Amino acid sequence: MDVRDLVTGHYGVTEDLATRILRALSGAGVDTDHLGAPDLFPVDQLHAGGAPASKYVLDRLGIEPGMRLLDVGCGIGGASRMAAMTGAAVTGIDLTPEFIETARVLSDRVGLADRLEFLSTAGESLPLDDGSFDAAVMVHVGMNLPEKTAVFAEVHRVLRPGGRFALYEQVRTGEGDLPYPLPWAEDERSSFVETVSDYCAHLERAGFEVEDEEDRTPTTLGPPPQGPVSNAVVFGPPFMQRIANNVAATKAGLLGAWLLLARA
Ligand SMILES: C[S@@+](CC[C@H](N)C(=O)[O-])C[C@H]1O[C@@H](n2cnc3c(N)ncnc32)[C@H](O)[C@@H]1O
Repeated sequence: MDVRDLVTGHYGVTEDLATRILRALSGAGVDTDHLGAPDLFPVDQLHAGGAPASKYVLDRLGIEPGMRLLDVGCGIGGASRMAAMTGAAVTGIDLTPEFIETARVLSDRVGLADRLEFLSTAGESLPLDDGSFDAAVMVHVGMNLPEKTAVFAEVHRVLRPGGRFALYEQVRTGEGDLPYPLPWAEDERSSFVETVSDYCAHLERAGFEVEDEEDRTPTTLGPPPQGPVSNAVVFGPPFMQRIANNVAATKAGLLGAWLLLARA
């Protein structure tokens, strides 16, 4: 099976995901008729470290009101909405159509739709104009990308000269078999975890200058964020096993969460 089919099959859900999220929040006592973007943080951040990690990445990127931001592999729009809250104009793109539909519904629901657009497309071929963004972010997507240089070249093309690209990714930090299933893949057919130096090489081949690399792994090893509802409620019990495997591989020194900052 094609990698993209495996990826969309892994993340795609049959039932209306937005309804499932709203029902779970409502069941946990959240007033879903008066929802703000932060109410969604416990469920819309599909990466290690949750909302604090997105905030850190966006702060390091230097998001400002009016900035045009591209969110590559935006999932259901967690980081996109957080950036839009600061006044940025955000385009989120993702391969999984159900996630894009969910991102649109949730953004509308929290009153941020006018600052956000979501496109169902692959990062390898962006239907976006050259130089049309000030900055780009990619959070926990590289693990699903077999050809990272191709995606980074597209991000480079749509950024203005000097625009910054922040990547927050699960990377290989040691040798050994990974314990599948992991949150991003059932097995190695759709999992392409690489080292920080591999990432730097892909970025440089795509035309970027790497400005900083930071090991964020320690921030991902604490207890999961507390809240009235969690990702597990939304994505089901198998998700807990995938997270547990991710944490075990991290503690064993096989995986780490790193931030890279690059300039076009
Ligand atoms: C672990 S989720 C992270 C989602 C989001 N960035 C977040 O942190 O909440 C990985 C996302 O990457 C998307 N993805 C995987 N391969 C992709 C590709 N080739 N182009 C665009 N999106 C892709 C998946 O559909 C999925 O939504």
